Amino acid sequence: MDYNSEFRRSIDNPEEFWRDKAGSIDWFQPPESIWEATDNGHGRWFPDATLNTSDVALDANVRAGRGDQKALIYDSPVTGTKCSYTYSELTDEVARFAGALKAQGINKGDVVIIYMPMIPEAAIAMLGCARIGAVHSVVFGGFAAHELAVRIDDAQPKAVITASCGIEVTKVIEYKPLVDKAIEQASHKPDFCVVYQRPQVKAQLQIGRDHDWGDLMASAEPTGPVPVKATDPLYVLYTSGTTGKPKGVVRDNGGHAVALKYSMKLVYDAHPGDVFWAASDVGWVVGHSYIVYAPLFAGCTTILYEGKPVRTPDAGAFWRVVQEHKVNLLFTAPTAFRAVRKEDPEADQLSRYDISSLRRIFLAGERLDPPTYEWLREHTQLPVLDHWWQTETGWAICCNPVGIEVLPTKPGSATVPSPGYNVQIVDASGDRVPPGEQGQIAVKLPLPPGCLVTVWGDDKRFQDSYLNLIPGFYSSGDGGYIDEDGYVFVMGRTDDVINVAGHRLSTGEMEEVVASHPAIAECCVVGAHDDMKGQIPLGLVLIKDGATIDHDELEEELVEMVREKIGAIACFRRALVVDRLPKTRSGKILRRVIRQIADGEEYAVPSTIDDPVILEEISEQLHR
Ligand code: COA
Ligand code: AMP
Repeated sequence: MDYNSEFRRSIDNPEEFWRDKAGSIDWFQPPESIWEATDNGHGRWFPDATLNTSDVALDANVRAGRGDQKALIYDSPVTGTKCSYTYSELTDEVARFAGALKAQGINKGDVVIIYMPMIPEAAIAMLGCARIGAVHSVVFGGFAAHELAVRIDDAQPKAVITASCGIEVTKVIEYKPLVDKAIEQASHKPDFCVVYQRPQVKAQLQIGRDHDWGDLMASAEPTGPVPVKATDPLYVLYTSGTTGKPKGVVRDNGGHAVALKYSMKLVYDAHPGDVFWAASDVGWVVGHSYIVYAPLFAGCTTILYEGKPVRTPDAGAFWRVVQEHKVNLLFTAPTAFRAVRKEDPEADQLSRYDISSLRRIFLAGERLDPPTYEWLREHTQLPVLDHWWQTETGWAICCNPVGIEVLPTKPGSATVPSPGYNVQIVDASGDRVPPGEQGQIAVKLPLPPGCLVTVWGDDKRFQDSYLNLIPGFYSSGDGGYIDEDGYVFVMGRTDDVINVAGHRLSTGEMEEVVASHPAIAECCVVGAHDDMKGQIPLGLVLIKDGATIDHDELEEELVEMVREKIGAIACFRRALVVDRLPKTRSGKILRRVIRQIADGEEYAVPSTIDDPVILEEISEQLHR
């Protein structure tokens, strides 16, 4: 099978194509109908089928004879702990936790928020929800109480599952007080919380509301996987949009299982028994798709790593994990290797380990910069493959389809559209632009299975944010071009979303926090270049007339406010007081030009600017 014929088949006859791929899943009721258009401008995959995602991930592997194979390896350099679960053991744990949730009144369709560090219980909680048809919403542990509160109010969970603490290198971060504060702040109150007590910290439990994970598990009856419709929601994962309100990306059960299983072959060429390691966090989409679900759908062994690429204990950490667990396929964000390269430029650490098990390295989450690509290629001598995707799509929109045909790579390109994605470059009016010309990257509808089906509780926002901008297309929010050979080059976001160390953040959200300071009249936040994290936020603030505050003090207060409201993960560390903000005559802040000035790039003075001198003033202040 070659890529071109696979791709053409997926576009010319999507129903036949996905009917064929759906054959790889253990359904309760296999699909008769493959695709059904809906009146929101999109549609649903496999509308008449039923399955259970935890059954596909776990029980199906036990039935296939992989019960004694390792399903999940937990490796935690921050606690000095390692353990593993076979498929049988993980199935038992998940069935028991699902039973515990059921006993507490969680039913099909109920929402459960999971706010946990990188411990196996996070995956068990996710799979446990899936087993009883509950909808999980994992909130990344690095988000502050306020962010958690916003998600509690939007998702309206019946329960919150958490742990007593997370561990950031050597810092122990207590989670329970954050959960308590979030629940206090939120208007919606969950019925109960489940707290996994870690040995590092014992959380205070609120009598009548909080349950100890261990106690619940000790008395729980294991429960079997309930049939859910393919179109029922599996999870909601919040991601940053351009406003302060995060978008709850909703993923269904059936399309997700089919697409992710297919992606394990197409994108990663993974086989049952392979050891697959996505070095990310369960709080991000990479963690959902490629730590928890897809490797299990494919019968692989997945690795859940509670550590960093550096400092836990050193820049050899990734190579140590590869050697020790005989990792075959490694997936992470380029920033992780930029951190390794910074500390170990000659890759001396690498020479201490045997990484011969490794077949390929995959990178995504942000642009793969050529120096990082070259460094990895040179020192590992392995294929290094970029692929492009988003929280919304859940799997690669563009990849090197190595499971079908290995295509030559081109630096700076995520290679070609994955089968199912009719990727086109269009201008603002939706007209296709010629090869080599930049425009917006859009996907002609329908989107393939596995992509978002709506925004939680706000289908209008789904339509307005993604479908109505360019009729007939899904708007990705990224700009780029396709070359004469059909290779896709992603150049970056065309909106106010920035990417900090592979984490997607909204500058609009940071602006809302900064603007709430009593001394601030106006502000803007842009993503400035950072050698290690790709981008970091930079604030420009205008003080109210008459407000007297020391600028350093103000910066400190603003940094603290962003940490408190959004979280340390925002990496907001710089707020520069300016006399004026550059604007167009119609009052729009020229964010792009500010970013270009901050990055020391050439910039064109827009003809619409009200006072071009401001640009020189800002440049001088920034580079002083
Ligand atoms: N819980 C609580 N706090 C967290 C956290 C979590 N789960 N994750 C990060 N933080 C905090 C950090 O402790 C840090 O706080 P500080 O400002 O008090 O030091 C802050 O958020 C920024 O964290 P991070 O972006 O991880 O920066 P770092 O300097 O500690 O590490 C890297 C830099 C490159 C090593 C790190 O960003 C990394 O490992 N990136 C990998 C990329 C990745 O996994 N991306 C996910 C998408 S694939
Ligand atoms: P997230 O939803 O957090 O995964 O972030 C998705 C965004 O990250 C995309 O819209 C891109 O802007 C960026 N991104 C992800 N992968 C790549 C890649 N391989 N190359 C360039 N940008 C990427």
